[in-house]
Amino acid sequence: AEIKINGQESKKISNMLTGVFFEDINYAADGGLYGELIQNRDFEYSLHDKKGRDEKWNASMAWSGNFKIEKENPIHANNPNYAVISKGSISNSGFDGIALKANEKYDFNVFAKGTKAVVSLKSANGEILAEAAFTPSNSWKKFNLVLKPLKTVNDAHLEISTNGETAVDMVSLFPQQTFKNRKNGLRADLAETIADMHPKFVRFPGGCVAHGDGLHNIYKWKNTIGPLESRIGMRNIWGYHQSMGLGYFEYFQFCEDLGAAPVPVLAAGVPCQNSSDGGSGQQFGIPMEDMDEYVQDVLDLIEYANGSVNTVWGKKRAEAGHPKPFNLKYVGIGNEDLISDVFEERYRMIVKAVQQKYPEIMIIGTVGPFFEGTDYREGWRIADDLKLPLVDEHYYQSPGWFINNQDFYDSYDRSKSKVYLGEYASWGNKFYNALAEALYLTGIERNGDVVSMASYAPLLAREKHTQWNPDLIYFNGNEVKPTVNYFVQKLYGQNPGDIYLERTIKASDNAEVNKRIGVSVVKESSSGDLIIKLVNVLPVAVTPSIEIANLATTENASYTVLAGNPEKTDARPITQNVTVKEAFSKELPPYSFTVIRIKTK
Ligand code: AHR
Repeated sequence: AEIKINGQESKKISNMLTGVFFEDINYAADGGLYGELIQNRDFEYSLHDKKGRDEKWNASMAWSGNFKIEKENPIHANNPNYAVISKGSISNSGFDGIALKANEKYDFNVFAKGTKAVVSLKSANGEILAEAAFTPSNSWKKFNLVLKPLKTVNDAHLEISTNGETAVDMVSLFPQQTFKNRKNGLRADLAETIADMHPKFVRFPGGCVAHGDGLHNIYKWKNTIGPLESRIGMRNIWGYHQSMGLGYFEYFQFCEDLGAAPVPVLAAGVPCQNSSDGGSGQQFGIPMEDMDEYVQDVLDLIEYANGSVNTVWGKKRAEAGHPKPFNLKYVGIGNEDLISDVFEERYRMIVKAVQQKYPEIMIIGTVGPFFEGTDYREGWRIADDLKLPLVDEHYYQSPGWFINNQDFYDSYDRSKSKVYLGEYASWGNKFYNALAEALYLTGIERNGDVVSMASYAPLLAREKHTQWNPDLIYFNGNEVKPTVNYFVQKLYGQNPGDIYLERTIKASDNAEVNKRIGVSVVKESSSGDLIIKLVNVLPVAVTPSIEIANLATTENASYTVLAGNPEKTDARPITQNVTVKEAFSKELPPYSFTVIRIKTK
């Protein structure tokens, strides 16, 4: 294939094209990124954590032993249940067993009252790995002890035992080594795997999770900040309980630690997809008489993130330990909602209020779902009218769809809203899927003047607790298992550009063959590097001959290839240093994604 790059023909593209979409789905938060090792630490799991009612989900879930649940005089009104242990012990094995590392320090925290108690970490066969005692009085007091297990095990449990009667609540165990060593922090291995993608932004706390399946299930950011015992947990739309231990403060902090722009997404005043409550089919939105309060919540979030410490909500951020603003620039309103009248009325209200009070905030609107038989027209009509800077598009499609639609954005009107492709994935975690995504992303880079941001979805999935496949990164208690799709995202994240260079490709006379070869050439202004991405989704090798005109480069290149069996999942990138000359004629293996990075002069 002949590839000609013209250093003089270029256009500016978004400098924040790839990022991540974190949704609390598949146990991505509790039992996932959130570092807490105890499940149901506050005894607030409830029968309603499953839609309808499920007896298994109750205040005692994940606990066993000699205890009863009581409610009188709780540690906080928002946290009504606690456990009383009588002459015996209570035990919690976390999320499928607690993974512990020998000689690392773990913070054990508990609110307790009553008689002396002993906390121990035990292996599955009962061996004591660490132990400490605490002596409560007859009123609630918080205790913090440090436990250092003797051995590395993946199936430990935590036990609290007493010879008398001890009440406990907010029973917590955290590794001291969290991501950036934050208290109430994030699981380091998972957070580092995300950080390695160099995301430019993080959308959170979810898609469907943000708008919930019913008015009472709309995610309320104010319930997720402040002291942990005062946060209000609730049913997660994906069928489990969300503790809100990973709340808005922690999300903002995570973004800051990653150097990524926070992109919170808030419901547009209506719950999920069909705006129906409890599956009744009727359209529901927040009652109009309550909308002012809801709109105020949205405005307050911006104050929480950016307001000075003298504002009501800025002060709360400062109290949580972050007096400096979080520098929030984007706010998402709505998540692939059905564009109904009920939706439109509320959406316009929220958008207008934000535009008026915070004209500097970039609002990301929604243009609705993209399923069989639907399109984005209605959503775009409102976006045009409201002059939104960005709209959020989503699509999950087959690899063939991604291969055939690389021109999806070629005809988008550059004078209208920019696009945030907030959710996309080809249906699978085989290398063929990852290659289809890599190929499609060459088209996204080529259209980086109209597509500003893109994020694969969903990001995380805990094995045995997965409601949605495929995902980008799977994990269990002690292992992180990035998919081959992850390596495509990582290569894009680590090799971004802000200038797109025009290129011509002459490969074959057959259009079917041509569309299986993708080439994207970008320049990163900050490093001055030229980055060439080459995707070959053909079953045969392709020998390129690359020429660059009007641009001087140094002689050496870093050359990364991700190649393998398209039906398998084990392809991994290999990087070597080669001369530019070699790089420009090196055979692209069948089914491969290659990234060439060169310094320009
Ligand atoms: O990513 C999983 C779900 O897909 C999101 O919650 C929703 O926005 C979309 O339908």
